[in-house]
Amino acid sequence: MNLYIVAFLMLTFCSLCEPYSINVGTTPSKRFVGRREVISTATATVLSLPFLPSVARSEIPGIAGQSPKTILITGASSGIGFDAVSRFVSLGHTVYASARNLEKSESIKTRISSDLPGTCITGVCDLSDLSSVTAYADRLKANGVKFDCACLNAGLAPGISRKTPERTKEGFEMTVGVNHFGHFKLMSLLKPSLKENSRVTITASGVHDPDSPGGQQGSKATLGDLKGLEEIGRDCEMIDGGAYDPDKAYKDSKLCNVFFTRELQKRNPNLQVNCFTPGLIVSTGLFRDQNPIFTKVFDVAATNVFKVGESIEWGGGALAYIALSEDVKTYGGYYGSKPGSSKYGDAAYGSSFSVDTVSKEVAEGEKKQQRLWELSEKLVNL
Ligand SMILES: NC(=O)c1ccc[n+]([C@@H]2O[C@H](COP(=O)([O-])OP(=O)(O)OC[C@H]3O[C@@H](n4cnc5c(N)ncnc54)[C@H](OP(=O)(O)O)[C@@H]3O)[C@@H](O)[C@H]2O)c1
Repeated sequence: MNLYIVAFLMLTFCSLCEPYSINVGTTPSKRFVGRREVISTATATVLSLPFLPSVARSEIPGIAGQSPKTILITGASSGIGFDAVSRFVSLGHTVYASARNLEKSESIKTRISSDLPGTCITGVCDLSDLSSVTAYADRLKANGVKFDCACLNAGLAPGISRKTPERTKEGFEMTVGVNHFGHFKLMSLLKPSLKENSRVTITASGVHDPDSPGGQQGSKATLGDLKGLEEIGRDCEMIDGGAYDPDKAYKDSKLCNVFFTRELQKRNPNLQVNCFTPGLIVSTGLFRDQNPIFTKVFDVAATNVFKVGESIEWGGGALAYIALSEDVKTYGGYYGSKPGSSKYGDAAYGSSFSVDTVSKEVAEGEKKQQRLWELSEKLVNL
């Protein structure tokens, strides 16, 4: 059974479960409660089965024994970002780990052991508020911090049943606003704080490509001719000018990440800019706005049963590999692996996890890439 079939089954299951999520917080009818309990019980039973991870852990190639580096990372409070922070600090590096608010940023520190050789310096950078992004960049600049690596990793995905867009403080559709525009502004402001030959690592996704296994499911990513940004600007619902579609908004934001990687590299040959997909990791916080029953069942099915999903450790390791490994020689590349690669463990970085092909829209879209950059500059007031 491959990823297509799993996704189809799960999407069907998701749509079947949808009425239950709609009833949360209201008084559900008896009929709904009964069906919901049946599904919950079945889910709990499935979850209690003894699935054993078959991960061979060794060491990520090319990252041991490096002199201490200074690393910036967004989306450090959970998921693959937090895993990467733990790895960086374990290796003796100094990490500037940001989160959207003080409570989340403080929680990063409490979860990192003080016995590790590196240092974790937390800060607040809410990517849905450009004044917060500017304030964070200003604080780092005022402290004279110079970075060897910047990891633009934070991201969110809206619930697929959402009907109208949530907006950032400046009015962008939230998904594209955080995943692309917030990072665009942060990177632009921090460029003077990057050392010569610094690395920039961007967490993109395979769903940027409508021909990839994940990108084929549901709505397809495309920025069209950027009509929404060109004609409506910040207030547009979708970059291509179409009506709001939460599934597509996430995929579009990841397409922006890949375009951004390539244009940032083109404009800054003194940097090494790469992006990657960590694969499908249902157990991170990314699926928090989806139907919770669907998410739990999907996680077990994709990760443990059909083994097309990855672990959080795999995603964190992939990020650390691109950000630090001496084996990573590519400039402006997109890295990925076949579904289920985390079973090979850390040794897979550089073999099954390697440079991958980008979508046709990216490969043939240099003009669009440049125009997206120009519009992004204008819309975030640079
Ligand atoms: N999981 C997957 O299957 C998968 C696949 C491909 C790509 N990715 C990408 O991997 C990256 C990390 O995601 P994840 O899977 O590790 O999910 P995650 O656990 O939800 O991590 C996302 C991080 O982004 C942060 N974030 C969200 N909104 C923010 C904002 N306004 N300002 C600052 N930080 C914000 C979250 O902070 P809070 O904890 O405060 O929300 C969290 O720390 C994302 O870019 C995602 O698109 C994930």
